[in-house]
Amino acid sequence: MAILSLLNILLFGLFLRSQLVIAQVFYDEITLLAIEKEFRLSGWGVNNSDYCSWPGIICSLNDSMVERLDLSGHGLQGNFTLISELKGLKWLDLSNNNFHGIIPPVFGNLSQLEFLDLSFNKFDGSIPVEFSRLRNVRALNLSNNWLTGAIPDELESLENLLEFQIFTNRLNGSIPLWVGNLTNLKVFTAYENELSGTIPDNLGAFSGLELLNLHSNRLEGPIPESIFAMEKLEVLVLTQNLLAGSIPESIGKCKGLSSIRIGDNKLIGSIPTDIGNISSLTYFEADNNDLSGEIVSEFAQCSNLTLLNLASNGFTGTIPTEFGDLSNLQELIVSGNSLFGEIPTSILRGKNLNKLDLSNNRFNGSIPESICNTSKLQYLLLGQNSIRGEIPHEIGNCTKLLELQLGSNYLAGSIPPEIGHIKNLQIALNLSSNHLHGQLPQELGRLDKLVSLDFSNNQLSGNIPATLKGMLSLIEVNFSNNHFTGPIPSFVPFQKSPNSSFLGNKGLCGDPLSISCGSLDAYGHHDYHHKVSYRIILAVIGSGLAVFVSVTVVVLLFMMREKQEKEAKDAGISADETTNKPVILAGNVFIENLRQAIEFEAVAKATMKESNKLSSGTFSNVYRADMPSGMVLSVKKLKSMDKTIIHHQNKMIRELEKLSKLSHDNLMRPMGFVIYEDAVLLLHQFFQNGTLAQFLHDAKNKPDYNPDWSSRLAIAIGVAEGLAFLHHVAIIHLDISSSNVFLDSNLKPLVGEVEISKLLDPSRGTASISAVAGSFGYIPPEYAYTMQVTAPGNVYSYGVVLLEILTTRLPVDEEFGEGIDLVKWVHTAPARGETPEQILDARLSTVSFAWRKEMLAALKVALLCTESTPAKRPMMKKVVEMLKEITQN
Ligand SMILES: *[C@@H]1O[C@H](CO)[C@@H](O)[C@H](O)[C@H]1NC(C)=O
Ligand SMILES: *[C@@H]1O[C@H](CO)[C@@H](O)[C@H](O)[C@H]1NC(C)=O
Ligand SMILES: *[C@@H]1O[C@H](CO)[C@@H](O)[C@H](O)[C@H]1NC(C)=O
Ligand SMILES: *[C@@H]1O[C@H](CO)[C@@H](O)[C@H](O)[C@H]1NC(C)=O
Ligand SMILES: *[C@@H]1O[C@H](CO)[C@@H](O)[C@H](O)[C@H]1NC(C)=O
Ligand SMILES: *[C@@H]1O[C@H](CO)[C@@H](O)[C@H](O)[C@H]1NC(C)=O
Ligand SMILES: *[C@@H]1O[C@H](CO)[C@@H](O)[C@H](O)[C@H]1NC(C)=O
Ligand SMILES: *[C@@H]1O[C@H](CO)[C@@H](O)[C@H](O)[C@H]1NC(C)=O
Ligand SMILES: *[C@@H]1O[C@H](CO)[C@@H](O)[C@H](O)[C@H]1NC(C)=O
Repeated sequence: MAILSLLNILLFGLFLRSQLVIAQVFYDEITLLAIEKEFRLSGWGVNNSDYCSWPGIICSLNDSMVERLDLSGHGLQGNFTLISELKGLKWLDLSNNNFHGIIPPVFGNLSQLEFLDLSFNKFDGSIPVEFSRLRNVRALNLSNNWLTGAIPDELESLENLLEFQIFTNRLNGSIPLWVGNLTNLKVFTAYENELSGTIPDNLGAFSGLELLNLHSNRLEGPIPESIFAMEKLEVLVLTQNLLAGSIPESIGKCKGLSSIRIGDNKLIGSIPTDIGNISSLTYFEADNNDLSGEIVSEFAQCSNLTLLNLASNGFTGTIPTEFGDLSNLQELIVSGNSLFGEIPTSILRGKNLNKLDLSNNRFNGSIPESICNTSKLQYLLLGQNSIRGEIPHEIGNCTKLLELQLGSNYLAGSIPPEIGHIKNLQIALNLSSNHLHGQLPQELGRLDKLVSLDFSNNQLSGNIPATLKGMLSLIEVNFSNNHFTGPIPSFVPFQKSPNSSFLGNKGLCGDPLSISCGSLDAYGHHDYHHKVSYRIILAVIGSGLAVFVSVTVVVLLFMMREKQEKEAKDAGISADETTNKPVILAGNVFIENLRQAIEFEAVAKATMKESNKLSSGTFSNVYRADMPSGMVLSVKKLKSMDKTIIHHQNKMIRELEKLSKLSHDNLMRPMGFVIYEDAVLLLHQFFQNGTLAQFLHDAKNKPDYNPDWSSRLAIAIGVAEGLAFLHHVAIIHLDISSSNVFLDSNLKPLVGEVEISKLLDPSRGTASISAVAGSFGYIPPEYAYTMQVTAPGNVYSYGVVLLEILTTRLPVDEEFGEGIDLVKWVHTAPARGETPEQILDARLSTVSFAWRKEMLAALKVALLCTESTPAKRPMMKKVVEMLKEITQN
């Protein structure tokens, strides 16, 4: 009897409990349907009433309550408060959307939550104190929003936090002490905020802190010992703060520390010798502090060290010869200290050495003959020292050099003709303020990429050789204060220079000095101008076809070679052998709910059929791939990949994954990748509407051509916004053209080829890849000599796209005349006596007065963007503003 009633009670209890569960489950479904309605989520509730199988949803196995919800990267905005009704949620990812406003406090009621990611949205206001009720949360990510105020003390109760990420907000106040009391904390990132005060001296004391990144705040006081206490630290970034005191000895206990970046602070004292114990160290950057003492030789024990930057401190002594053991060292930067002694030949033996910056010290040896016997130096910066002796003839062995700075030393003797062998020299050749004498070697004329040349303040004599006219890229020259004689050769860069570039030479005559040499070179000058510009144009064309990418340290990227075209052809031939079954080496789909729908083998096979080819670009061919699931993909096959890409696969994958998270409506992000044999395939959404180039140019000769200015302006703004976002996250696009802008069914533009572009971290300051790339007609003139892709360069290419939109003309067209492209054609219209109206597509500008007015305003923007002087071009952000102003007026 007693047993029976007990059973009854149990059964009844079970009944009650299941009723409750059923109620909640039912409630979850209602909630999800309401969420579906709010956000119009595709694939939700359409054919399938089992919400547990909807994309992005995972239910708990035993009771069907929603446990995980992933709505990341859907460009969502609106009221998502409803989500807080899903009481069983353990895992919620709303990152990379457009949510704005304050974070709803009711989220604090999701007491089961273990993972909450609200990063990369536009939330403002402060971090809700109600989050203190998320007792089970292990990962909290609020990064990249517009949050303000202090980190609330109430969050102290989040004892289970493992990863706490709040970077890139506007948080102020100090880092609360309770963060140091979190015993599980492994990852703490709060960089790019306005945090002040000291770093808590218990931070990391109780937990195995692995990653601490607090750069770009206003933190002061010392680097606390506590962060090294558990010896688990792997990455430490404290750059750009106001930290003082010395580097703690205990740093040496963290054997797994690979990256130490503490530059731009007020640190004092010497570097602890225990640094040598950090066997994993690859990256040590402590520039712009007040560190002193000798550079410790113990660094030499860190065999993986690739970058050592100690610039602008108070270091004395010599560079330890032991540094020759650092076979992985790529950059040694010690400029702006008080170092002396010989230029360390042991380091020059390093095969990987790429940058040696000893400038602004007291080095007093001579330049060793072995200077470039083994290294592949690109930057040799020895200016402002006390270096003696002659420049050795062996300098000609430094064939990879981009920049050679030897100014302000005590160098004597003559300039070795072998300098003319350094064909890559392009950024600068500076031999100024030395004791050089003799004549300038004729061979210098071979340096046709060199932009800046400085021979000033020496005792050089003789004529300025006419062969220097071979230096087609010259912009800056300085021959002043020497003993040069005779006429200054007629050469545009010379005559365009200020006369100060030639002053202080008693025997020189001709322009730009107002000293006449007689009738020697009165004509031929104008003629030459044409020749030069013609050749520069050729150089630009050449660089559009051949792509030079030189990769340095930290950032790996896609290396391509001149043989590109040939290999692309080869690939075309093998592509016909469709009988071969592709061997997939690797592949991934970043978007979880698409994994089922994509088959790697089908992707690879699609790229083997020429009939699937959609387009062909500078870096890739694009194919259409129909999946057995019915899904259609656009697959980009990268051209002529260097073998290194296979070696650096993991880095590439990480890079891609990072890019796949970039959230902007106007950027096309990689959805995944497939690597088979030696081909790399990138997967993207397929856009039925094709590219902007097709949109603008394919229909223009049809009788029913009926263009619409408003949609074109919206496209122009969209592209500008996408690029402004890229620049905001420090990515420079490599190949902006209308063929790389895709249009969705609403004509929303998406900028493609983003992943080909490189990731530069400006706070790192060392990502020195130089590359020239792009499509003919879009390449800014300065790329021909700087070989460096830049944000202003992107603005120029964007300006060309905008001109295309305004004129419905191709960027290069024989109609413009020989050697004239769209930009030149537009810019020279006034000289031809044409009005701006005559440039615009008349089928648009004559439709209404309002359209014409807007188009003229947009033309002004395009003209600014395509200024030949990079500095005169507006920033992409400004371009967006100017274009938006047009729509508002
Ligand atoms: C729903 O069913 C229709 C017709 O059966 C099908 O075409 C469509 O792709 C299905 N949608 C989803 C999201 O499964
Ligand atoms: C479902 O499983 C979880 C853990 O496995 C448990 O805590 C919960 O009580 C279960 N729910 C039901 C209704 O049995
Ligand atoms: C958002 O939705 C909730 C109900 O889910 C409602 O209470 C709230 O007022 C809404 N907020 C706004 C700003 O519309
Ligand atoms: C959230 O929880 C608090 C206290 O636990 C309660 O007062 C409040 O009504 C809850 N809010 C919602 C929307 O459930
Ligand atoms: C946010 O932080 C969590 C925990 O560290 C991490 O797993 C997640 O990937 C981050 N989200 C984004 C978009 O990076
Ligand atoms: C933090 O910022 C808020 C405004 O967002 C301001 O009211 C407050 O005074 C600031 N606090 C500190 C300590 O600077
Ligand atoms: C941190 O923990 C220590 C003891 O472990 C305690 O005395 C201190 O009050 C805690 N500090 C905070 C801010 O919670
Ligand atoms: C150096 O780097 C290599 C490759 O990343 C790694 O395998 C090795 O363990 C590192 N050496 C040390 C001492 O950390
Ligand atoms: C280095 O330069 C010297 C002098 O110009 C030359 O004789 C020698 O062959 C060069 N060595 C290499 C490896 O190029």
